[in-house]
Amino acid sequence: MKGIILAAGNGTRLYPASLPISKILLPVYDKPMIYYPITTLMLANIRDILIISNPYDIANFEKVLGDGSKLGVKFSYAIQQVPRGIAESFIIAEEFINNEPVALILGDNIFHGFGFGSMLTCAQKENKGATIFVYKVKDPERFGVVEVDEKGRAISIEEKPKEPKSDYAVTGLYFYDKNVVEYAKSLKPSKRGELEITDLNKIYLSENKLKVEILGRGFAWLDTGTTETLLQASNFVSAMEINTGLKISCVEEVAYRMGFISKEDLASLAKNFNNTYGDYLRRIVLKN
Ligand code: DAU
Repeated sequence: MKGIILAAGNGTRLYPASLPISKILLPVYDKPMIYYPITTLMLANIRDILIISNPYDIANFEKVLGDGSKLGVKFSYAIQQVPRGIAESFIIAEEFINNEPVALILGDNIFHGFGFGSMLTCAQKENKGATIFVYKVKDPERFGVVEVDEKGRAISIEEKPKEPKSDYAVTGLYFYDKNVVEYAKSLKPSKRGELEITDLNKIYLSENKLKVEILGRGFAWLDTGTTETLLQASNFVSAMEINTGLKISCVEEVAYRMGFISKEDLASLAKNFNNTYGDYLRRIVLKN
């Protein structure tokens, strides 16, 4: 399965903090924001990843992440000229997708919770239809909202409804079968001029092929849209890491634990960090 990270937004809500650099490269506590979606895809055993950004920021992503070989993955890059909608990703990525199933994650979506790895593995193994992940929120009108029946099956899905039919927000992580490019091409721009991911999901729903995974209580789906929520995300990661002694979304650790790189590779990556981040990697080498 292929993976796409969409990181082409301008991050204007974070100006001036995101003026010099893409919001998705700003730190969330101890690492760039993009490490979080990268590790989500890696945990789904996805190693072929396309990063889509805007013409101004793409070079920075390449500089920070390279070709991915150090992590045992492959990063490629593509440009979205203007933010014409999340679903445009599949049209931009048509050649990369090459008629295979694909997962998409928004660059600013941070997930953390027990059992997430196995949920991702299940979604990755489904080669038919679509899987979306939903999360109970107190302000569903800000998101895509899905209404589910008592068995957790989707009944309806709406983008930012004024009167939401449920509290389940659709998160920015989506798994699709190989039909996604064809479906994305059939979409018409919405009133706000975008190819809406919700309209794409509606196609799968109309074919009875939209699977909904509910991320339960105790699970964290963090917002990084404003300076306040970005700080809160950093505080959350810091509290978790300090209390447990384990890092969230450490790309080198995930690469090692997923078997993408060897212990020797990890030891050599650790040498790049003469700080506590490097000490953490060195401890993993010694103890595992
Ligand atoms: O975060 C989940 C929500 O993401 C979903 O619940 C909604 O259904 C979905 O439409 C989307 O909601 P927003 O309208 O709030 O997304 P926003 O425009 O903020 O874009 C999300 C991220 O994707 C953001 O980092 C910018 C980036 N983006 C967005 C668009 C429209 C792009 O890179 N290119 C784009 O064309």
